[in-house]
Amino acid sequence: MSIDKLARPEIQALKPYEAAVQVDDTIRLNANEAPWTSSGDHFRRPLNRYPEIRPTQLRIALAARYGCAEANLSVTRGTSEAIDLLIRVFCRAGLDNLLISSPTFSMYKHYADVQGAEVREYVTSRDNDFSIDVDALLECCNDSTRLIFICSPNNPTGNLFPRESLLDLLEKRGSRSAVVVDEAYIEFAGRASAIELLERYENLIILRTLSKALAFAGARCGSVIGPASVIDMVNAVQAPYALATPVVECVENAMRTESLSEAERWLEQVVSERERLTLALREFPFVQQIWPSAANFFLMQVDDASSLMAQSGADKVLLRYFGGDLSDCVRVTVGTHAENDRLLQTFTKLAGD
Ligand SMILES: Cc1ncc(COP(=O)(O)O)c(C=O)c1O
Repeated sequence: MSIDKLARPEIQALKPYEAAVQVDDTIRLNANEAPWTSSGDHFRRPLNRYPEIRPTQLRIALAARYGCAEANLSVTRGTSEAIDLLIRVFCRAGLDNLLISSPTFSMYKHYADVQGAEVREYVTSRDNDFSIDVDALLECCNDSTRLIFICSPNNPTGNLFPRESLLDLLEKRGSRSAVVVDEAYIEFAGRASAIELLERYENLIILRTLSKALAFAGARCGSVIGPASVIDMVNAVQAPYALATPVVECVENAMRTESLSEAERWLEQVVSERERLTLALREFPFVQQIWPSAANFFLMQVDDASSLMAQSGADKVLLRYFGGDLSDCVRVTVGTHAENDRLLQTFTKLAGD
């Protein structure tokens, strides 16, 4: 069985919205658009016209970048929208569930709650560097588990889900669930994407984003990559014209060779700053632990997280605090060299108190 059969029956039957036909070099009197262009409109494609219902050129460029066929990719407003769309495609409210590890990125649960889908949690242990045991993870599934979200590198812990574990999970769960690998931070890991497994595994879906390593969080552009039948359903559920013309043009710019090489240079710098910062922070006596990270952030356990948050806030350096099981931890995003030095100054001040 292919995983598209796991989707909500009404979504399997859903016909995509039919937009007004758009053909170059024609007079467009079919879409109730304005016939004039505003003087404030400086885009390559005039804004009086609707964008394409789905951005073809962008989809081609992203598929080429990620190494998959265009039919296997849908462009979304960040991976956040992709998570929402997948949950809406696969989970019937009150009936189906999805499985996440914990701690992880909070949006999986957020959108599951919006959809009314149960969330099952496999709790990882800090003593085990937050790693996931596949057999134990599988025990958390039941017949109604439609989606298993694997965040690799995981936010906020920074650890990768090893390739052998992913293969094991894909094999053992088969077509009973879709395995969604969220690779928002994969560029910082220096590891191959799971996209190369797509041809072998029909139950695999991958999420990628331009928000992190490409520095385009403000543009909101992500991708869902998976079996063409799943992509068709994601497209049918997504709002028509979801990607606005300014966004499409700005992301086309981001895909140019110069921007990509600039991103490569920054990537190296962020990875080397991650190492410099973690080494330096480990020297402070109140830093208990910094977990190894394959992302552009790391999780750190400290003696007194409240004092650290207060001092860094006073120094106008923002860190992320989660509370709950991580109440003695903070997550630090790696900044520029100068920004990271500011953080080190805060730590030095705290050590002097
Ligand atoms: C693991 C993970 N996935 C997805 C996202 C969402 O990214 P975006 O919607 O900007 O693509 C984030 C954002 O922080 C994240 O940490």
